[in-house]
Amino acid sequence: MTMDKQLVWVRDPSEGFVLARIHELMGEEADVFPLDNKHPRRVCSFDDIFPAGDPAKDVDDNCELMFLNEATLLNNILTRYKKSKIYTYVANILLAVNPYEDIPDMYSPTTIKKYQGRSLGELPPHVFAIADKSFRDMKALKQSQSIIVSGESGAGKTESTKYILKYLCDLWAKGAGPVEQKILDANPILEAFGNAKTTRNNNSSRFGKFMEVHFSNKYQVVGGHISHYLLEKSRICTQSAEERNYHVFYLLCAGAPQELRSALKITKPDDYLYLKNGCTQYFTSAQSEKKINANQKGKQQQAKGGLRDPILDDVEDFQRLHQALSRVGLSEAEKKSVYSVVAAVLHLGNVEFEEEGGARGGCRVSPDSEASLATAASLLGVDPGELRMALVSRLMQSSRGGMKGTAIMVPLKTYEASSARDALAKAVYSRLFDYIVRRINDSIPSSASAYYIGVLDIAGFEYFQMNSFEQFCINYCNEKLQQFFNERILKNEQELYRREGLNVPEIRFVDNQDCIDLIESKNHGIFHILDEESKLPKPDYGHFTNAVHKELSGNASTRLQVPRASRLKAHRTLRDHEGFLLRHFAGAVCYNTNQFIEKNNDALHASLEFLVQESGSALVQQLFETVDNNNAKGKLNFISVGAKFQTQLAQLMDKLKENGTNFVRCIKPNSRMVGREIEGSLVLTQLQCSGTIAVLALMEHGFPSRAPFAELHTMYKAYLPPKLHTLTPKVFCQAIVHSFGLSDKDYKFGVTRVFFRPGKYSEFDTIMKSDPENLKAIVDSVLAWLVKSRWRRSIFSALSIIKLKNKILYRRQCLVTVQTAVRGYLVRRQHQPRYRGIAKIKTLENNLKEMDSVIPQLKKEKDNAKRNIDNLRNSIRGACTTIKTNPRISRTDIDQLYTKLTKDVEMQMAALQKAMVDQKNREEQERLRRLEAEMRAAEEAKRLEQERIKQEEEHRRLKAEMEARRKAEEAERLRQEEQDRIAAVKLQQQMEQAARADQENRDRLEQERRDHEMAVRLAKETNGHVEGSPPQLRSFPSMESMNGENKLNRSERVRMQQAMQGKQKHDLSKWKYSELRDTINTSCDIELLEACRHEFHRRLKVYHAWKAKNARKSTMAEQERAPQSIMDAAKTPRLPQKGEILGARHRYFRIPFVRPGVSAGEGERRGWWYAHFDGQYVARQMELHPDKTPVLLQAGVDDMQMCELSLEETGLTRKRGAEILEHEFEREWARHHGPAYAPPHARPSNHLSPNSKAIAGK
Ligand SMILES: Nc1ncnc2c1ncn2[C@@H]1O[C@H](COP(=O)(O)OP(=O)(O)OP(=O)(O)O)[C@@H](O)[C@H]1O
Ligand SMILES: [Mg+2]
Repeated sequence: MTMDKQLVWVRDPSEGFVLARIHELMGEEADVFPLDNKHPRRVCSFDDIFPAGDPAKDVDDNCELMFLNEATLLNNILTRYKKSKIYTYVANILLAVNPYEDIPDMYSPTTIKKYQGRSLGELPPHVFAIADKSFRDMKALKQSQSIIVSGESGAGKTESTKYILKYLCDLWAKGAGPVEQKILDANPILEAFGNAKTTRNNNSSRFGKFMEVHFSNKYQVVGGHISHYLLEKSRICTQSAEERNYHVFYLLCAGAPQELRSALKITKPDDYLYLKNGCTQYFTSAQSEKKINANQKGKQQQAKGGLRDPILDDVEDFQRLHQALSRVGLSEAEKKSVYSVVAAVLHLGNVEFEEEGGARGGCRVSPDSEASLATAASLLGVDPGELRMALVSRLMQSSRGGMKGTAIMVPLKTYEASSARDALAKAVYSRLFDYIVRRINDSIPSSASAYYIGVLDIAGFEYFQMNSFEQFCINYCNEKLQQFFNERILKNEQELYRREGLNVPEIRFVDNQDCIDLIESKNHGIFHILDEESKLPKPDYGHFTNAVHKELSGNASTRLQVPRASRLKAHRTLRDHEGFLLRHFAGAVCYNTNQFIEKNNDALHASLEFLVQESGSALVQQLFETVDNNNAKGKLNFISVGAKFQTQLAQLMDKLKENGTNFVRCIKPNSRMVGREIEGSLVLTQLQCSGTIAVLALMEHGFPSRAPFAELHTMYKAYLPPKLHTLTPKVFCQAIVHSFGLSDKDYKFGVTRVFFRPGKYSEFDTIMKSDPENLKAIVDSVLAWLVKSRWRRSIFSALSIIKLKNKILYRRQCLVTVQTAVRGYLVRRQHQPRYRGIAKIKTLENNLKEMDSVIPQLKKEKDNAKRNIDNLRNSIRGACTTIKTNPRISRTDIDQLYTKLTKDVEMQMAALQKAMVDQKNREEQERLRRLEAEMRAAEEAKRLEQERIKQEEEHRRLKAEMEARRKAEEAERLRQEEQDRIAAVKLQQQMEQAARADQENRDRLEQERRDHEMAVRLAKETNGHVEGSPPQLRSFPSMESMNGENKLNRSERVRMQQAMQGKQKHDLSKWKYSELRDTINTSCDIELLEACRHEFHRRLKVYHAWKAKNARKSTMAEQERAPQSIMDAAKTPRLPQKGEILGARHRYFRIPFVRPGVSAGEGERRGWWYAHFDGQYVARQMELHPDKTPVLLQAGVDDMQMCELSLEETGLTRKRGAEILEHEFEREWARHHGPAYAPPHARPSNHLSPNSKAIAGK
């Protein structure tokens, strides 16, 4: 894209900025063609391109430039410089470029007059304008003022300071007489002792100063005061080849009269070690050159002649110094003493040392130097021997061994002695300088002072290839001043705009507080670390530097780094422990720490200190008595140079902060110190370092000129007719500003003052002070404006009154509202605590309700809790009544009541809760227990169920077994029946045969019986006797004797016989019933037992048969011992079972059973008949009938009522479904509370029922 070739300034490394035209725009950059062909075409960032405006036009105040930026600022300065206009403004800051030549009429008395009382901007910029502004500000604001003159070495600070002082003294010290002269005389004296030729400035001030000109309350000069800072002491002993020591040494050599020089043994610079290594030329003029003898000239002087400088002349300057010293009150003798001390320093410098060679390793004054030693001693008023001693040894107080506190002399090495000598020279000279300043101050009175204007002339930001402690201190000072500048100009300005409601956008500036902290912070700052290092037994700069890096490097701001980080190659060669790089607001400076420790400690060693204190010279004695005796304080308490400077600087800053401030920024145009030559880039760097560029941004949006309304009113009312005087200051200002027709953008009305855009205030001022004709027009316009504005105001007033009326009505309404509110408030305030208290207390009832709701849930202590709650409720009601009835009750009482009740309620609540919790816990435990029991029960049920299933399974199995057994039995029975039938047939035949034989036998026996009876009768009749016995009857009953159902059938008898035969062993027929019973119950002999049981049951059967035969028919059925079906079965003859009964010994049966005697009409009430057979005979028997008491019978107890038949006989085993399982029987038995079963042998004996006895023996 092509541009319309706009003219711009483009940053250039050598010239600062060059004019160019934009050729092409490329994103963040532009392609530009410099106008001057010697500069190449380039591509620049937009940050480096600035609009140019008209480059040929220059303005007094940079703020008036059409485009205000660093390029136009630089161009304006350069353009003007070329026209010998060395001053410009940036708002109220004066920029002064050193012309290095006299500009005609620049500082003439006429010029001074011209500037008097003229506001800034009215006349071309000038240092006088600043001086005048300070003066006027002091008057107007009744406040002391400071003028801070800053700039680098050779920029013209000291010269500017002098012009300011001259301006002030010329105009306002006329009546002050000698005071004025003394103030002005201070400069040559200070310069002689404190200035030196350096590579940058022939008259470089090697100290800083703050010169105050004091004014009375009538604004007349009444005195002055000088504070000085940081005299460069190293210069006293060494200088670089191009530089010189302090001027005073050369003044003495070149300008002192012959006698004085002889007395002081002063010759030429080449003769003094402290001078000869630097430049030894004198500053002379053509005339003064002639006044110097050949023996006063050094080699350089002779070879090159004198140095030339318009303001320096060593010959003339000595005279000036001499006179000035007199004027500040030094007597001839005092002056001589001063010169003697100066000379003594030179001679002292010539004292050299050599190794002594002894065992002590010390040194001695070399023989060639003895003369110098003697001269120096005499000039200092000390004994040469003592001086020698003090130089080659050091006094030490022993702290151990021998007598504590004993002073011992420690011999010094050559280099130690040399440094002791240098230290003495420095101490003597620097104290002399202090003394001179003190004397000047003493000569100028300052008691009548009301205000002062102080001018600060202190070196600006400095950086060399090698920077040491001095640069460190001065740059620290400049950091502080820069911060002050920022605060004053930028912060205050913006604060003021804000306060006055000007609505100007905020300007940002780089805050350098962190850098200041880095240097001066109490516990971590560089000064602190340095002082700590100095207190160590063997301080070492490497250790100090490392400590600085350790403590402060890596600081977030990266302000401090190792020398390697420097962009300068020379710095990068320094090792980490040899220095540090500090990024100041103006740029990074690499400090070489090599000399830091020595330079920070200006204390003399004890022997030298004592020596000079005892000096015979009053002056020398005075030099050392007033100042702090560092040595006496000891190493740990010494006050370092750094610390002293910090204190001085703090005091200075306090002063500056109290005062109004003006700034003069001096600029050095070139480094060759020549006129009419200006280097753009050098100037630009200085503008940046001085913070001027940052001010531009503010000014672009700001209003640098301002005046309070009242001030303008008093200032200008004289110019206007009296009728305008009565206007209030603000209306006055508004009237004139408005009537001037200034553009709205040129001024702003703040709350207390009017602000003007750059240059507009002077325009305003000029108009105001213009000729009467013009003034008349102004007055007319002011009056017209006033009429208009008054008319507007009256309309406005009328409207306002209407508005006011409405407002009053509205307010009335509001007042009522307010009153209501207030009254309400008051009443509420009075009673609120009460009803709030009641409300609060009543809320407790909710708690009670809550508790009430809880109580029913309680299981214990219910009544107690209820009672407590009722009590509480009564207390609450009581408290409410108390509060209600007592309007005077205090808030505390209410609170107490409330607190007590709350506590009670809480306690009750807590008790209830506890009870609930306890109860809950109990319930929970119960629940858990139940749950557990349920679980256990469930488990048990499950187990039982399983058992039941298992049992059922078992039962099924048993049933199956039982069925199988029954079937087997059935089969067996059938088989046996078949056998029986065959046997029966056989038996029948046998029986029939037997019967027949029996009958025959019977018949025969009957015959025989009858025969016998007849024989007996015959014998009786004939008294004869009968021969032989009657015939024997058979023991078993005859068949015929057994009749009906009850007679044992034949087969039974046979069986019994057979059984009897089988058990011949036990013939039980003779046993008694009870014996049988007992044997059954107790015997372990199974065979016998079984036999007994057979016999027992046989007898029972016989008994029952007998009983049945004899019983009445009607009762028979009731006495039935087993169902009829069983009894019937028994009638069927059968063969005895062969062998053991199949299956188990215990068998259980159940058959349905209807009690006979129940008529069919009543319905068949079917019952059950249960029997338990232990072996062949019944053991237990049970008869269950729905509406009858169950009959439970046991063998051994109830035998009479029980079934007497053997299992075989009952036929039960043959009955399908009759046999049941044991548990089925047992269940029914247990259900009807049957006693546990005891097997026969376990039954107690003798427990037969009475009935049983009836059958005994049968
Ligand atoms: N306004 C001036 N007119 C003519 N020459 C000047 C003016 N200001 C300064 N000079 C010349 O510049 C030289 C250096 O000025 P000055 O001593 O004031 O510098 P400085 O800023 O005080 O330097 P330093 O910091 O080294 O003391 C002066 O000796 C003088 O020759
Ligand atoms: Mg100076």
